[in-house]
Amino acid sequence: MGTVVLGTGSCLPGRVLTNVELESIVDTSADWIKSRTGIESRHIGGKGEKTYQLAAQAAQKALEAAGVSAEELGLIVLGTISSHMLMPSSACFVQNELGAKNAFAYDLNAACSGFLYGLDLADKYIQADHSMKVLVIGAETLSSRLNWQDRNTCILFGDGAGAAVCGYSDSDRGLIGSNMRSDGSLGELLRMHAPESFNPDLIVEGNPGAYIQMEGREVFKHAVRAMEDAVFGLLEREKISKESLSLVIPHQANMRILNKLIARLDIPQSKVFINVSKYGNTSAASIPIALDEANSSGLIAKGDTVLFCSFGGGFTWGATLIKW
Ligand code: UT7
Repeated sequence: MGTVVLGTGSCLPGRVLTNVELESIVDTSADWIKSRTGIESRHIGGKGEKTYQLAAQAAQKALEAAGVSAEELGLIVLGTISSHMLMPSSACFVQNELGAKNAFAYDLNAACSGFLYGLDLADKYIQADHSMKVLVIGAETLSSRLNWQDRNTCILFGDGAGAAVCGYSDSDRGLIGSNMRSDGSLGELLRMHAPESFNPDLIVEGNPGAYIQMEGREVFKHAVRAMEDAVFGLLEREKISKESLSLVIPHQANMRILNKLIARLDIPQSKVFINVSKYGNTSAASIPIALDEANSSGLIAKGDTVLFCSFGGGFTWGATLIKW
């Protein structure tokens, strides 16, 4: 029938940064963070630890779980906003690390929606060529892109990577559909400037360098509404009732966003996979990490209908349905 996930994997850096530790870094309190975000700790990369290294480890596990060799991969798509270099792409570093010599590779910038945009792309390539195996990764070292003096942002994000190997199945399983959206007119609300230019004619006034800035309250409102619209639009288009969903795996941004979303979708919380308390918001990595945890703990069975939804900078957002 279509594009299936053959295997998943994830990788978290070893260092865990707790809310209590954050109290000594920035003017905040562990209780404030827990009650306003649901986050209790996040994993943070070590000195010099790079996005592609986490990505390659997650990918290696996904390949093993799928029983697919690196040489069989035709494409590697890596969703990230925290590459250690702009060129080569992190995807090319991963390709080299894995020895995936038959794959072409590129990064995809859709912030927290990077993994779902990547799955959508993988589906299109696989539909066009059933022999294609595509590795979709979401990976971030956002701790390197935070202003650690800004309590509005530095308490929210974490590092990590998740990956899925996709291929074709002629069974009745597969990706049912996706509903991907963007709205560039709202981009200022959640942004990260490029590194400053060395060309005096191209210097952008007020560019603070490459770290995340956010109007939290506005982002919050848009995130809930956008994910709700994307999910209902997709369910309606695919003629799938919300009662028939087996599991929902949303982007793990903030527990309050998730609670509002669950209320608007009117689905039981027991059907929603949530791990934001352990990892914070890992942007493009959040959905594939959650997917790997759900998958490896046996929460998804063959034939289940799984719904994903995301929201992030751009704005970018979307929803995807898979018959597992
Ligand atoms: O993937 C999408 C990415 N973005 C997001 O998911 C973020 C969406 N936004 C949010 O999750 C929330 O807006 C935040 C968690 C960022 C902030 O929560 P909030 O309930 O919207 O707080 P607020 O910004 O309205 O601030 C309330 C108060 C303010 O103090 P005053 O003005 O009431 O005295 C802030 O200065 O809380 C203060 N505050 C903090 N206090 C302790 C803001 N950040 C902190 C902090 N620790 N870290």
